[in-house]
Amino acid sequence: MATKRVMLVAGNWKMNGLAAEGHALAQAVAAGAEGVGCELLVCPPAVLLSTAGAALSGSGVALGGQDCHPEESGAHTGDLSAEMLADAGSRFVIVGHSERRADHGESDALVRAKALAAHRAGLTTVICVGETEVERDAGRADAVVAGQIKGSLPEKATAADTVIAYEPVWAIGTGRTPTPDEVQAMHRHMRAIVSGSHGAEIARQIRLLYGGSVKPGNASELMALEDVDGALVGGASLVAADFLAIAGCCA
Ligand code: PGA
Repeated sequence: MATKRVMLVAGNWKMNGLAAEGHALAQAVAAGAEGVGCELLVCPPAVLLSTAGAALSGSGVALGGQDCHPEESGAHTGDLSAEMLADAGSRFVIVGHSERRADHGESDALVRAKALAAHRAGLTTVICVGETEVERDAGRADAVVAGQIKGSLPEKATAADTVIAYEPVWAIGTGRTPTPDEVQAMHRHMRAIVSGSHGAEIARQIRLLYGGSVKPGNASELMALEDVDGALVGGASLVAADFLAIAGCCA
C-alpha cells in the first residue's frame, strides 16, 4: 500500500567555486554516484550549470538551480527564469532558501510565485522553510514553519513536483543541529500541515529534507528518522567524499 519515498540528497554549492573546481567537484560526485541508494542532486552557481552538467552527464545525478524569477522573461536585470534553468539542464530548483529570504527580503508570497514558475517550466522545487534561533527560543518554531509552508507551497503542489526542506536558520553553516528528536518532531508536524492543506495522500508521499550542518558524522542518525527523506547539504557538499558519505547514509 505505502509507496516508499525515494530519499534525495541535494548539494547546495551556494556562491562557491570557479569553473575548474566546479567541474572537478561534479566529476568526483559523478564518479562516486553509482550504487548510491538514493537520488542525488547538485545545485551549482548558475554560471557553472553547463560545466557541472557536462561532468554529471550520464551519471544519474540531477542538476538544479539555486533560485529563479517568477516570470518567464523580461526586464529583470541579473535574474534567471525557471525556463532558462531548465534549458541549461536543470531538473530542480531551490526556492525560498533562508539566505535569500534574509539577504533579498523574499516573502512567502514571492517564494510561492517562484515555485509556480518552476512548475510551469517543468522543474521540481525544493522549497525551504525554517525558524530563526529567536523564534525557536520563543517557542514559535512550529508556528513559523507552518506559516511558511502554507504561504510558500502552491495550491496545486504535488509530491512529484515539490520537495520541502526544513532548515533551521541557526543550524545553517554553524555546526549546530537540532537533536534527532527535534528534527523528527518538526518533520512530523510538517507532514501534518501538508495533510491539512494538500490532503493526506500528498502528505504521505511528499519528501521532507533536513538541512543545516549535515555532515558525514551526523547524517546516519538524521537520515534514519521516520519522516526525514534526505538532506539539503551546504558546506559538506563542496567536498565530494563528504557529500557521497552523506548519501551513503540514505538507503
Ligand atoms: P550547511 O548549509 O550544510 O552549510 O549548514 C545548508 C544549507 O544552507 O542548505
